[in-house]
Amino acid sequence: MTEPGAAYRVLARKYRPSRFDALIGQEAMVRTLTNAIATGRIAHAFILTGVRGVGKTTTARILARALNCVGPDGKGGPTVAPCGVCEPCRTIAEDRHVDVLEMDAASRTGVDDIRELTEGVRYKPVSARYKIYIIDEVHMLSKNAFNALLKTLEEPPGDVIFIFATTEIHKVPITVLSRCQRFSLRRVPVELLAEHYRGIAVAEGVTAEPAAIALIARAADGSVRDGLSLLDQAIALGGPSITEDAVRTMLGVADRGLVFDLLEAVLRGDAAGALRRMAALYEGGGDPLMVLQDLLELVHFLTRLKITAGAGEGDPALEGERSRGLALVPKLALPVLARAWQMLLKGITEAQTAPSPLQAAEMVLVRLAYAADLPAPGDLVKQLTSRADAPSAAPSAPSVSRAAPAAPRFGHSGEASGSAAARLMPEDAAVAPAMPQPQSFLDVVELFDRQREAVLRAHLHAHVHLVHFEPGRIEFRPADGAPRDLANRLGKMLGEWTGMRWVVSVSREEGAPTLRDQAESRALSLRSEAAHDPLVRAVLEAFPGARIDAVRELVTNEPQAESEPLDGSEARSEGDDVR
Ligand SMILES: Nc1ncnc2c1ncn2[C@@H]1O[C@H](COP(=O)(O)OP(=O)(O)OP(=O)(O)O)[C@@H](O)[C@H]1O
Ligand SMILES: [Mg+2]
Ligand SMILES: [Zn+2]
Repeated sequence: MTEPGAAYRVLARKYRPSRFDALIGQEAMVRTLTNAIATGRIAHAFILTGVRGVGKTTTARILARALNCVGPDGKGGPTVAPCGVCEPCRTIAEDRHVDVLEMDAASRTGVDDIRELTEGVRYKPVSARYKIYIIDEVHMLSKNAFNALLKTLEEPPGDVIFIFATTEIHKVPITVLSRCQRFSLRRVPVELLAEHYRGIAVAEGVTAEPAAIALIARAADGSVRDGLSLLDQAIALGGPSITEDAVRTMLGVADRGLVFDLLEAVLRGDAAGALRRMAALYEGGGDPLMVLQDLLELVHFLTRLKITAGAGEGDPALEGERSRGLALVPKLALPVLARAWQMLLKGITEAQTAPSPLQAAEMVLVRLAYAADLPAPGDLVKQLTSRADAPSAAPSAPSVSRAAPAAPRFGHSGEASGSAAARLMPEDAAVAPAMPQPQSFLDVVELFDRQREAVLRAHLHAHVHLVHFEPGRIEFRPADGAPRDLANRLGKMLGEWTGMRWVVSVSREEGAPTLRDQAESRALSLRSEAAHDPLVRAVLEAFPGARIDAVRELVTNEPQAESEPLDGSEARSEGDDVR
């Protein structure tokens, strides 16, 4: 331990509260303890739980003092406000009171350690009112050690008190728990933390930008000590003045402005732009996982902002976000934000386990950008219900429609800028099914479907690697299993049905994957995407046993165009009764 004054003492030690009223964020526990002490109903064993650095050890020590304090005049009884000047108070603070024994179970887990400790239970306290055993990290004790402890807990002498502390209460045997009065310490809210750190900065004579303190308080994630360690670090880096920038760099927190840019790119469906920004953040030292977490936080904040314009008011760390957010939220639909949040949350778990967090993060961004183009779940339901009686038309190549939409489309504005169906199938063709003029290979397959040429259609679907297509001319490489006269028959039939000459030739070029392969890989990705969709998840939850059988794409901007899976079996089941 560092000698006071001799060297820098870490803030967490220097500012360890010595009274209950100096503990922050633990009012409920303090109140109960106060009552217990005031009414003289003092348990023989206490167990304090809570996440790291919220005051368990501190509370145990204050409690030891509270129970043994005799007051300045040496005549006082147990008190919630130990005087700090009497002999017991001082010696306990200095960790040298003979009757207050502290043991760290993390380093002494064995049964012998406990035996040694409980040996002393038989002896009366030397000088204090109570003999107090503080066992920190009690969940680390071995099974035998717990058993040894249990014996003592079953019949504790009246003047012995155990105080256990643990971060993992579920690892403490129920037999032990049931003999303890239990207190849960809370994570400390971020505002309280910020206030606490501000006070300490002042006491330390350092100036700190409010946003810097706010960042530290947020990074502390409820743990007073974690935040104090960060403050220590910031002081070591920045000396007497702590800036927001310095803290950002220290924490590896990306510049909020850049994160905002990234989110905007994603929400307008600009996958390429999003990847570019992600790369920039990464090169700037940003941790991909943290970036995702920042995005998640930002989406949450925007959601709050959408609901109440006053969200985050007065928080210095949120000032920038607020002004940009207020401009943005009117363009964002709530379901879109909700969906983005869920997808990010899922993505974060993925990135945590992925071999390359950067890759995982990029995939999440692409998925998000892709989803930005989809209608909000509520609208989707509306479309589904109004679609039932809409006429069916051409199939569409998926993926194409999502490539970089021209205008920002937050959510679902619905302008029909270049949907795939529109490009692949001119309007007149769609409304004149009598003599359709295929504009794509997909249209050709569709035509075979409509003409009920099931066998040839299946070959086109499964055994054709398309090399070139233009109306009137097709080049393809047949896959194994294609009939030898496929090109010939294809040309003849197309000629008959369309009234124009079709030149169909076989090529040696590699060509595109077959439609079947495309459909398969697309179905996989759609399915995984569908599985993440909030609406689908809600449905799956509402109907136990339900599963995703097939995923069909809807071209959202083109109410009369209906897209079906390219895979024959699925198209059939629905297509047959329509046509
Ligand atoms: N509620 C609190 N109020 C004020 N300071 C706190 C509080 N909790 C923790 N601290 C600060 O953090 C330091 C560490 O706290 P403490 O050792 O009590 O945490 P703990 O809960 O026992 O953590 P761990 O689980 O890591 O043992 C204290 O010295 C104090 O500076
Ligand atoms: Mg502790
Ligand atoms: Zn005292």
